[in-house]
Amino acid sequence: MEKLGTLKVNSLSKGFGPKGQGLKVLDDVNLTVEPGEFISIVGQSGCGKTTFLRLVVGLESDYQGEILLDGKRLNGPDLERGVVFQDHRLLPWLTVEKNVGLGLKNAGKGEARRKVQEHIELVGLKGYEKHYPHQLSGGMSQRAAIARALVNRPQILMLDEPLGALDALTRMYMHQELERIWRQEGITMIMVTHDMDEAIFLSDRVVIMSSRPGTIKKIMPVKLARPRDRASIEFARIKEELLEEFHLHTETPFAYSI
Ligand SMILES: Nc1ncnc2c1ncn2[C@@H]1O[C@H](COP(=O)(O)OP(=O)(O)O)[C@@H](O)[C@H]1O
Ligand SMILES: [Mg+2]
Repeated sequence: MEKLGTLKVNSLSKGFGPKGQGLKVLDDVNLTVEPGEFISIVGQSGCGKTTFLRLVVGLESDYQGEILLDGKRLNGPDLERGVVFQDHRLLPWLTVEKNVGLGLKNAGKGEARRKVQEHIELVGLKGYEKHYPHQLSGGMSQRAAIARALVNRPQILMLDEPLGALDALTRMYMHQELERIWRQEGITMIMVTHDMDEAIFLSDRVVIMSSRPGTIKKIMPVKLARPRDRASIEFARIKEELLEEFHLHTETPFAYSI
């Protein structure tokens, strides 16, 4: 029996162009995501990662195969799936609280205020409610975008290279924050990234996609205790394994001598 909140993708294929017969972008993608799992998707630029997320979010309905949440076929975007894009897409003329509130659906006024506040606090932006996007750093903007995506309590949060535009230190700090939010909320997260450290630090499983057309090449479980130590040998070993999938070997493969 499947657990409640299970996402199942069966034989998913997608083409662009006339009648979807032109460029084939995804070919026979199969993936089951357990509720509460953290999944990363890595693969070369153009291999169909964003297309995959858009299909699962429900922004695109023209595809072959099935995308099921609790056995039910998706039918357009709904409140069960939130999404965060790389460019946060906050509206510059609205404050943080108004931007977060924009995502909110079906809430009365008092309830809306409470939910918005709760999620601003969840992402660590308390005190910045009245700030405008231009008054925020990149990391803060992404926090606001995450709050906006979470405010409807989706079962699944999809993140498309959410931290790609941030500097390395801010990104590492955001990894801890994302992990905290993920643990605290028990939400399923599916994140596209090109940063292998990010994928290993955060994920229960890393999905490796190959290109043209995009298929799942391998799924790599990451069984390290959390919070993870980027400087550990186990971490480096998994990274090595992951890079090998892209034929990117380090010069001296695993020459750690103590
Ligand atoms: N709306 C579209 N119409 C035609 N081609 C598209 C469209 N969206 C994406 N593509 C093409 O599909 C391929 C995969 O794109 P995308 O999913 O954005 O890749 P990724 O996110 O892995 O970089 C690319 O070759 C891209 O040009
Ligand atoms: Mg993309």
